[in-house]
Amino acid sequence: MSVSQQSAGGVPVLVLKEGSSRSKGREALHTNIEAARIVAETVKSSLGPKGMDKMLVDSFGDVTITSDGRTILDEMDIQHPAAKMMLEVAKTQDNEAGDGTTTAVIISGELLNKAQELVERSVHPTIIIDGYKKASDKALEILEKIAIPIDPTSADYPKKVAMTSMASKLVAEHRDYLADLVVKAILAVAEKDGDKYKADVDDVKVEKKPGESTAETKLIQGIVLDKEIAHSGMPKRIEKAKIALLDCPLEIEKTEFDAKINIESPEQMDAFLKQEEDMMREMVDKISKSGANVVLCEKGIDDMVQHFLARKGIIAVRRNKKSDMEKLAKATGGKIVTNLDSMTSEDLGYAALVEERKIGDDKMTFIEGCKHPKAVTILIRGGTQRIVDEAERSVHDALCVVRDVVEEPKIVAGGGAPELEVSRMLKKYAETLPGREQLAVKAFAEALEAVPITLTENAGLDPIDIISDLRARHEKGETWAGIEVNNGKAQDMTRAGVYEPLSVKKQIVKSGTEASTMILKIDDVIAAGKMKAPPTPPGGPGGPGGYPGMGEY
Ligand SMILES: Nc1ncnc2c1ncn2[C@@H]1O[C@H](COP(=O)(O)OP(=O)(O)OP(=O)(O)O)[C@@H](O)[C@H]1O
Ligand SMILES: [Mg+2]
Repeated sequence: MSVSQQSAGGVPVLVLKEGSSRSKGREALHTNIEAARIVAETVKSSLGPKGMDKMLVDSFGDVTITSDGRTILDEMDIQHPAAKMMLEVAKTQDNEAGDGTTTAVIISGELLNKAQELVERSVHPTIIIDGYKKASDKALEILEKIAIPIDPTSADYPKKVAMTSMASKLVAEHRDYLADLVVKAILAVAEKDGDKYKADVDDVKVEKKPGESTAETKLIQGIVLDKEIAHSGMPKRIEKAKIALLDCPLEIEKTEFDAKINIESPEQMDAFLKQEEDMMREMVDKISKSGANVVLCEKGIDDMVQHFLARKGIIAVRRNKKSDMEKLAKATGGKIVTNLDSMTSEDLGYAALVEERKIGDDKMTFIEGCKHPKAVTILIRGGTQRIVDEAERSVHDALCVVRDVVEEPKIVAGGGAPELEVSRMLKKYAETLPGREQLAVKAFAEALEAVPITLTENAGLDPIDIISDLRARHEKGETWAGIEVNNGKAQDMTRAGVYEPLSVKKQIVKSGTEASTMILKIDDVIAAGKMKAPPTPPGGPGGPGGYPGMGEY
């Protein structure tokens, strides 16, 4: 751990700043593997339907209860650089496939675990990396071969896939009902693209409101805004709505420079106020002239403008999110207008109904029967804020897996069956390879078994008997033999109806291999010294001086 080296003349040569730390070779590899393994160990207990949830408390005291791999790691505020790479695995998995984050982290950890054993047996990390890459390519090939093709337009298998993804979450009890909503939502937004389908999860708007129960979650054919109608004098319901979408404020804008107006008489004051009022009245006239009876605005609306709009019987909702405005434009077929002067009736969107409804303690605005029938919203309900938060994450996972199978209509069964099958075939493949590479491919195959082993352990069962039974069944050609944790039996998982998208499993192999090989390639960790808090260095906080926490492990 030295930052200086003795030169030939005996004078130390300082290369790094004082306070920097450095670890090299085996030591660096060992610490990195250890850190990454600790992370994998943390999420292990939350895998599968019998997995446990984690309660995470942030520095503000806010509590999150979840079993979602990515959320757990996100909230853990990890410091160690190698451990942070595990968070990256979870993020990549989440962005690419939407589900399987816990599995990806567990497999990365296990690949490193096995690599550590090989390094101790004097296998060089480069050989392990090459072996892991070969194994990963082969594993993807095997997965592709054993996958079951399905019809993406029938709701049957997509629903099963959605149910599997929700089986391991807090909302499991309502998964049958929720899976129906999720499948309907994705099939509504899916578009044909050549002979394939494309679906964007972002096209399904998800809103949440605590209250009632998760069973009251609804799919709305349209857009729901978590906003109330701006003024109490406005109508609460308008049919055949002609909607103006504005991203300009309906207020008198303040000048950017300081202006002073000298008013010397009450008449002048009146005239000044009158002029402001006239300007606002003019705004409302322009809106009403375009034929709009609903205004959805991204910015603020002045009280007086609200009053004038109300007098004309126009509904207005202010301060909508930009992302919502974009969805509204797509859904209603309207154009977002920046300048009221150029607004015409052509720019208006259409919806059969705009209505404010009371949901829980709050009011929300529903825009239904839109011009574009593909606009849908899932409105999540649940006992408390934490339940709706976790339900939102689970619905997100479910939307992603249904999207996955709609875009790539191939599935595999779950419960550790595909991992065991790939593991078995990889072991066979390993036999065909020379010496040390063979060891690495075998290690990869064994690492995959961590999935059925962990599922079994989390269900409170003894993995030794079950895994050897499962291995034997796979040997006999039972491709989908896995552990059904609800009844604790080793069985054909297709019979249990537990299915997952092929793309989730493929992404797990890819992200797990990438992260573990990246960590194995590091043989030198040089960390800058910890930044001293006060006094602030010239150039302000965050100036030169290394990264906080880097030297802490
Ligand atoms: N009834 C079941 N019996 C056995 N295993 C099941 C069953 N239902 C689901 N599984 C398995 O549970 C695993 C998924 O668990 P979980 O959803 O907790 O983790 P993940 O999908 O890897 O990560 P995350 O959902 O946190 O992103 C999959 O391997 C799946 O096959
Ligand atoms: Mg999952």
